[in-house]
Amino acid sequence: MRMAEPGGIAEGDLEAAGLRLSVTGEVATVSLVRPERRNAMTGRTWEALAHVGQTLSESVRIVVVKGEGSSFSSGIDLNMFRPGGVEGETSLMDRIARGSADDAELDAVIAGYQEGFRWLRRPDIVTVAAVRGHAIGAGFQLALSCDLRVLADDAQLCMKEPALGLVPDLTGTKPLVDLVGPNRAMELCLTARTVSAAEARELRLAELVVEGAELDAAVDDLVAALLAVPREAASATKELLRGAPGRTLEEQAAAERRAQAGRLTAMAAQAARG
Ligand code: CAA
Repeated sequence: MRMAEPGGIAEGDLEAAGLRLSVTGEVATVSLVRPERRNAMTGRTWEALAHVGQTLSESVRIVVVKGEGSSFSSGIDLNMFRPGGVEGETSLMDRIARGSADDAELDAVIAGYQEGFRWLRRPDIVTVAAVRGHAIGAGFQLALSCDLRVLADDAQLCMKEPALGLVPDLTGTKPLVDLVGPNRAMELCLTARTVSAAEARELRLAELVVEGAELDAAVDDLVAALLAVPREAASATKELLRGAPGRTLEEQAAAERRAQAGRLTAMAAQAARG
């Protein structure tokens, strides 16, 4: 594994990190743009993804995450594990081999990578993964980090990490368990088997499965429907729903009351302003 150089991502470096960001009005599209490598990702890609989250315009309400070409993402760039590694990034594997990377450094590096995935849950935005072809390892975790997943019927999801001697560590285990339960999550991870689009729908890993040619249109329709709901109500509702699994019914009922009081107060203030 290679560690990104200190100093972060400068403006204009996204493409070199394998990412493209385009913003149209309230909608941002983050594309993985290494189709010749099936959108394999490096540490630099995840840093760049974190940078996108940190610098996203406040006017953006919806973020679509997609991959260019035939695959959403083939996961980590396997060169990260090979001698020579990935050009332009310091090899963490080499440091570990030399004994110069300690636990605290590893923890900090992985935490930095995870930042690229964590922001996709933010309550002020709704994130949609548009998945065609393979979503493997880190690619599957990226799709899982989004609020909603629209799959083309050729999508193939696979949590490959255990088969490579690793664990899934890019924040994908929590949504996987939340969606399919711990036993199914274990079966999927510990066999590292591939889940088809049809099975993904059954397992609630996809909100929608469409023909490949319809993927972009289906995502556009979903985005239009999401935009039709007032932003503040959507944010408050997302926060309420995301918190629900960790609360008792009593606590959730109280959270609903607080959120509704906030909405009613805001609406009354708006009405008073005319
Ligand atoms: N890393 C580096 N290169 C990759 C890559 C990857 N993850 N995936 C594909 N490529 C490269 C291939 O080596 C090939 O390069 P060449 O043209 O130079 O030969 C090119 O991309 C096209 O790939 P294929 O010819 O294999 O394309 P395909 O459509 O037949 O198959 C695929 C696509 C099923 C994704 C296959 O490429 C594959 O299995 N890739 C490896 C997937 C993998 O094991 N990823 C790691 C997941 S674990 C993870 O992500 C761990 C983590 O976060 C810690």
